[in-house]
Amino acid sequence: MIVDSKIEEQAKQTALQPGQNQEFDWKQCWYPVCFVQDLPNNRPYSFSLYDEPFVLYRDKDGQLVCLVDRCPHRAAKLSDGQITDGKIECLYHGWQFGSNGQCLHIPQLPTNAKIPTNACVQSFKVVERQGIVWMWAGEREVAVDECIPTIEELDKPEFVTTDVMRDLPYDQFYFIENVMDPAHVQISHTGTLGKREYAQPLEMEVVENSPQAVRGRLRGMSKPNQPWTQLEYIAPNFVIYQYSIPQRGVVGGLGLYSIPLGKGRCRILVRNYLGIKTWKIKLIPRWLDHMFRNKVLEEDMSLVIGQKAQIERLGQSLKQVYLPLKSCDTLVLEYRKWLDKFGSSLPYYQGYSTSKNIGSDDNSSNPMLLDRFSQHTQLCRSCTHAHQVTTRVKQTCVGVAIALAALAILTDAWIQVMAVSASLGAVALAVAATEFKTHFERPYTRH
Ligand code: FES
Repeated sequence: MIVDSKIEEQAKQTALQPGQNQEFDWKQCWYPVCFVQDLPNNRPYSFSLYDEPFVLYRDKDGQLVCLVDRCPHRAAKLSDGQITDGKIECLYHGWQFGSNGQCLHIPQLPTNAKIPTNACVQSFKVVERQGIVWMWAGEREVAVDECIPTIEELDKPEFVTTDVMRDLPYDQFYFIENVMDPAHVQISHTGTLGKREYAQPLEMEVVENSPQAVRGRLRGMSKPNQPWTQLEYIAPNFVIYQYSIPQRGVVGGLGLYSIPLGKGRCRILVRNYLGIKTWKIKLIPRWLDHMFRNKVLEEDMSLVIGQKAQIERLGQSLKQVYLPLKSCDTLVLEYRKWLDKFGSSLPYYQGYSTSKNIGSDDNSSNPMLLDRFSQHTQLCRSCTHAHQVTTRVKQTCVGVAIALAALAILTDAWIQVMAVSASLGAVALAVAATEFKTHFERPYTRH
């Protein structure tokens, strides 16, 4: 059940005033880069925003630094470099840069020579908030920390989260449309999040459509007076579902952050949160939870990839292609209409009847559109570690099996029987480890 007065109050606060600028400025906002726990230790971390490459690293004081990922000398990627004494060093010719992007050392210059003033890299403001790294895309002087779309409940100690990050091979607006569409859950996610027989008519209401947000609520109609769930899109990178069940003392939600990495690709940071500590959250390892969450994501990914291909092939507006239902597609349409009304500054977008710079992207001919290893495992420290351990277990078992087989050949009688049995056991373990390893590598497919 939601607190109705809360969203009405938020709607009043953010409602468009007469004369107010209708344009949403994509540079005047925060972008979620990654979960802090997935940042590598003492290594540069690369990411992109609308195809512009950036590099993150920690300086000597442990503060995060964000620079354009391009050396001013001859354009090598700084993220291919190394961190030396809190400075980032380009590994091509060894130029070193400080936290404001200024060049501090050029090995090829004589000791007393002055470093050229234009030997610098543009830097951007980054902060850590609620376990996420946030980047401000505009001038650092005008960055407003209060505008970070945090989840209020997570500042309370009783709330716990489970977090997963994944890169998707389509634009951010396909992801946001996907998660503004609760009607698909009982069908697409049958067996994981939903059940086909629970699919039902939905009642949806739009409370606000302003430059800052689309706010609404929804509930099932199969039974009377079902509790409302609050659904909000906070422009341009955040969707949140919030619910509370007072009878059971449960308050929780699902935060869905995303960053447009470039044309035809985005990164998502999915955060489930709950106001009670359950044994599940305490005991289930993060990598095990990610197996389930990746499966859920992949259930939709193959469908959205197909949807995107059809839309691009037709080359028409969504208004011409879609046949929306008035009830359960309300919030999807409201988001696409938000893009029509306020999204024209976004480097590319596809609204309901308008779009910008849309066409097939470089991904369209890529056969590896679903690749759990590169899209998740390599980005996630927990899954990378689990994958490495599994690989080592497999290699060790293979080595032990070979050694035991050799021992069996060289010995006789009861030692031979024991060596053969143990070797077969090691082979079985190696096979199990190989099978387990595929959970970090291969995507789920329905067929
Ligand atoms: Fe970076 Fe030369 S390209 S130091």
